[in-house]
Amino acid sequence: MLNADRRTLADATALGTESLRERIAAELLTARARTAELTDCVDDRDLTTQHSPLMSPLVWDLAHIGNQEELWLLRNVGGREAMHPEIDSLYDAFQHSRAERPTLPLLAPAEARAYSHEVRGRVLDLLAASPLEGVPLLDEGFAFGMIAQHEQQHDETMLITHQLRQGPVALDAPPPPAADQGPLPAEVLVPAGPFTMGTDTEPWSLDNERPSHRVEVAAFRLDTAPVGNAAYQEFIADGGYDNPRWWTPEGWEHRRQAGLTAPLFWHRDGGQWLRRRFGVTEPVPPNEPVLHVCWYEADAYARWAGRRLPTEAEWEKAARYDPATDRSRRYPWGDAEPTAEQANLGQRHLRPAPVGSYPAGESPHGARQLIGDVWEWTASDFLPYPGFRAWPYQEYSEVFFGPQYKVLRGGSFAVAPVACRGTFRNWDYPIRRQIFSGFRTAASVEGS
Ligand code: AVJ
Ligand code: FE
Repeated sequence: MLNADRRTLADATALGTESLRERIAAELLTARARTAELTDCVDDRDLTTQHSPLMSPLVWDLAHIGNQEELWLLRNVGGREAMHPEIDSLYDAFQHSRAERPTLPLLAPAEARAYSHEVRGRVLDLLAASPLEGVPLLDEGFAFGMIAQHEQQHDETMLITHQLRQGPVALDAPPPPAADQGPLPAEVLVPAGPFTMGTDTEPWSLDNERPSHRVEVAAFRLDTAPVGNAAYQEFIADGGYDNPRWWTPEGWEHRRQAGLTAPLFWHRDGGQWLRRRFGVTEPVPPNEPVLHVCWYEADAYARWAGRRLPTEAEWEKAARYDPATDRSRRYPWGDAEPTAEQANLGQRHLRPAPVGSYPAGESPHGARQLIGDVWEWTASDFLPYPGFRAWPYQEYSEVFFGPQYKVLRGGSFAVAPVACRGTFRNWDYPIRRQIFSGFRTAASVEGS
């Protein structure tokens, strides 16, 4: 699912409109192949069932993908009439909560597939005829890139639904390659100094990643890799879930009310921890990054370890800042698109790679797995950058800004390369843990 070549979007654009068109078509195709993989592996009953009140039925995502594509590309860019105006409200995420979506007169699976297919055919015709410039929505193919990212984001959402689903195994993928490196230092030092956070130039960056701005960051230490299951089990074994000392007051209240005792999908069997992963029950692998923890659990673990969660600015500096050139780059390894040797992205595997994997994806300061594997909770609330402008639609980020959401960074194994970069910001409620969330910890450096 990685790009066949490692050309960046900027390179593709510089090579001319035809090369940008090819890149867009490839991204749309990659997204649609993944959507098909996630929805062709279960039957119609499964597609229309709500597997969790936290999620939509898969058939809703399927038609919502097509509906957003129709809205943004055929109607807004192409000026076409609505194909089926009567269905728009069904697939407007703000009109109906996920919990109530199964009660709506949704398109049946065959209709949803046919609709999204029909939209796509027309979109490819539009792409072939589009100058890909002249209006902001079209510059560097932005609207097409936004729609490829949107489909991939819903593919991750559908993969979460698969993880919550009961029933026979529907998905399979090879495990990630074993980490073959020697012992790694536990943490890396990021010296004090300003860096440029956010972007003005990344062609398909979304509004919340903009504009770029200078941020002063004090020296800090950051875990070399995400916290692993073995370390997390020590927190559990040490009574971490029973001691309010490690938890914020809200976190402790939530822990009590929700009865949290371990990450989601874990259970204890005799002397060992087992977990359910896409329908398979297996021992919790000690060397894999911990997954399915909420912000409150991550925050409590960090305090127990005598540390704290990194701020969003610290995370981004560790992932992008290159001291040799005093520049913020697109990824920890530089500006080139991710390869399979650098990051676990795109659902190539159905799990994170062992802690310390991907030496080729290391940042200049020596941190690993910042991109891919697990989403990383940060200490920060989801807030706009100074000078933020909602574009092209307020409902992407602006309506969500506020202290009720915490920022996650770096993407998981379920995030596609097109929807992942050093500037990408995700957010969720601090109680959420069905998402592919893990974390790493940080510590301030005294006297800096
Ligand atoms: C950015 C992942 C929080 O899934 O709610 C999809 C992305 N926005 N359709 C979400 C999104 C509209 C969004 N997240
Ligand atoms: Fe959506």
